[in-house]
Amino acid sequence: MEAGALLCQLINRTGLCERHVQTLRRLEPLMAPMASEIALAFYDYLGRDEEMRAILWEVPGRVERLYQSFADWYRGLFCGKYDAGYAEKRARIGLVHAAVGVKPSFIMPAFGIVQELSLEHLRNALRSPEVFGAVEAFEKIMAIEAALMQDSYMQAMEYGYRLGAAADQALVAGARAILGKAH
Ligand code: HEM
Repeated sequence: MEAGALLCQLINRTGLCERHVQTLRRLEPLMAPMASEIALAFYDYLGRDEEMRAILWEVPGRVERLYQSFADWYRGLFCGKYDAGYAEKRARIGLVHAAVGVKPSFIMPAFGIVQELSLEHLRNALRSPEVFGAVEAFEKIMAIEAALMQDSYMQAMEYGYRLGAAADQALVAGARAILGKAH
């Protein structure tokens, strides 16, 4: 399924409606300036795990580049425009992870960390009546992000099998092939 069509389904399934979109947009001035700080804490968390640290430091300059990419991704959560272009960009990010060997099991805990860091900031920065609506909208966009990422992994795996790759190589081979095709 095309990323844009999947995003439409996910919007329905999570119940992300105009009210949530407006809330996310209103949160942008509060949350976007936190992107670099959250990126630092995020990669600090990833770097504490031996396997993830090995991937992060495998390529010179990778981590430095990632701070910026992650911060851009984070600001995007509050852009308020969740359309086919958004979905395609996010799906591609999923493929990049699969292609560089980030295991599927690393992904959900990492999303959990982004959530934890963000919720802490929302709780500290907002007055209590506003927190509930903010958390509700934030949880919905994060559920959408996680599902888009998961779908990219599934597509990569499926494509890898179709190319005839062995079970333990199908994910990486499929992701690399799809990314190659996309260029
Ligand atoms: C919430 C989960 C995550 C988010 C939002 C995220 C965000 C990003 C973004 C935006 C990129 C740039 C993709 C591109 O070039 O288009 C990226 C690449 C990458 N991420 Fe993540 N990431 C996540 C989880 C992880 C985890 C768990 C690891 C484990 C080590 C990881 C390692 C990497 C690596 C190695 C790259 C490729 C860097 C390169 O260009 O060489 N990420 N990530």
